[in-house]
Amino acid sequence: MPTDAFKTAKLSFGDKTLDLPMQSPTAGPDVIDIRKLYALGDVFTYDPGFTSTAACESAITYIDGDKGELLYRGYPIDQLAEKSHFLEVCYILLYGELPDTAKLDDFVSRVTNHTMLHEQMHFFYRGFRRDAHPMAIICGVQGAMSSFYHDSIDISDPWQREVATIRMIAKMPTIVAWAYKYSVGQPFIYPRNDLDYASNFLQMCFAVPAEDYVVNPILSRAMDRIFTLHADHEQNASTSTVRLAGSSGANPFACIAAGIACLWGPAHGGANQACLEMLREIGTVDRIPEYIARAKDKDDPFRLMGFGHRVYKNFDPRAKVMKESADEVLGLLGIENNPTLQVAKELERIALEDPYFVEKKLYPNVDFYSGIILDAMGFPTSMFTPIFALARTVGWIAQWKEMMEDPTQKIGRPRQLYTGETSRDYVDIENRA
Ligand code: CMC
Repeated sequence: MPTDAFKTAKLSFGDKTLDLPMQSPTAGPDVIDIRKLYALGDVFTYDPGFTSTAACESAITYIDGDKGELLYRGYPIDQLAEKSHFLEVCYILLYGELPDTAKLDDFVSRVTNHTMLHEQMHFFYRGFRRDAHPMAIICGVQGAMSSFYHDSIDISDPWQREVATIRMIAKMPTIVAWAYKYSVGQPFIYPRNDLDYASNFLQMCFAVPAEDYVVNPILSRAMDRIFTLHADHEQNASTSTVRLAGSSGANPFACIAAGIACLWGPAHGGANQACLEMLREIGTVDRIPEYIARAKDKDDPFRLMGFGHRVYKNFDPRAKVMKESADEVLGLLGIENNPTLQVAKELERIALEDPYFVEKKLYPNVDFYSGIILDAMGFPTSMFTPIFALARTVGWIAQWKEMMEDPTQKIGRPRQLYTGETSRDYVDIENRA
């Protein structure tokens, strides 16, 4: 990104005044380049939570939180959700442009032909308790990939980075589906190359050897949309985790395992599970006011899960598409009167009119409706976050690759505002008060 020669920011403190260069992005606010601040001014900046700090340069995904806009490589999410499909979205995120037919066919074929796991990986699953959370299992199995695929962990080799990329996108549905099969005590189902990405995932989750399984195209389309809507989201917590892990030169499988671990938290990917559990706990529409009151009570740690977002302050464009998908799927399955959906719709209506939520710009986020769709498809709540991780894998890898290709990349090493004791002498135990 070029420094704008005409723009500088003047920073005065003590007896110093510094002119700091500014940079202009293609979209979004200008940034003040503070890389030389410590050298020139002997001060740090303080921004826990990174609310005002750009930690990297990126050309992959852009969010305009005020407009409620999400772009992958410039393409609006609603257009991609309507006209594209997940593997094409993966191509766009990874390589930056819409593919022609030959390039797309080649990419789809490479992913489709790498979906099997090394046969020995079965044994990892057996080491976990049956009641383990699938996020714990997929984090472990993903990390273990680096012990099986030695020929794609040399991060300095672009070809190995490419092979690792294809392997992770291809194998993640198998890893996640097998975590589910393990939890319900059913045999692992192998991937099928005649099915598209989403259909293959559904069959690996729901097929059993005893009978034929036919994938419903509407469910497969809804699954594909869930993948597309979750594929990338700028420098969120898990993506930043992947970048930070990668900045030390860690191998790509380890970096994605770090991203999975971070995603699990309820403020991030874990919110879809927490949201459906909250909707079920509310249970009936008449109990909604009680929960709204709790969400507003400063002394109660309860929050309305599936509401609010660090960046979106108008609406979450993913939630809009997800709501349409929820109506479609529940209609198909004939369960429009599902009590959880009724509670969700009424909760959304009340919260959007309530001054507390309006003033704080708290809108339903992507997780508000995704859980309802996944529940209707037959997934237990514990599988919601693993499905998010499956979809986000491409975003994590695209961001990791972008960082690896950046010649100015260096290890991430934040500073701190130290508030501990200054140097003091050790006291022998017999002399301590
Ligand atoms: N319910 C009630 N109050 C809320 C909520 C909520 N869901 N979210 C934020 N607030 C209030 C919060 O109490 C604070 O009030 P005050 O200014 O009086 O102290 C104000 O709104 C700002 O909240 P914040 O925590 O400072 O905002 P943030 O940008 O740090 O947090 C968030 C964003 C998504 C973590 C938060 O809104 C939240 O915890 N939401 C529920 C969890 C959730 O749905 N997460 C999924 C996010 S989308 C998928 C993903 O990115 O993984």
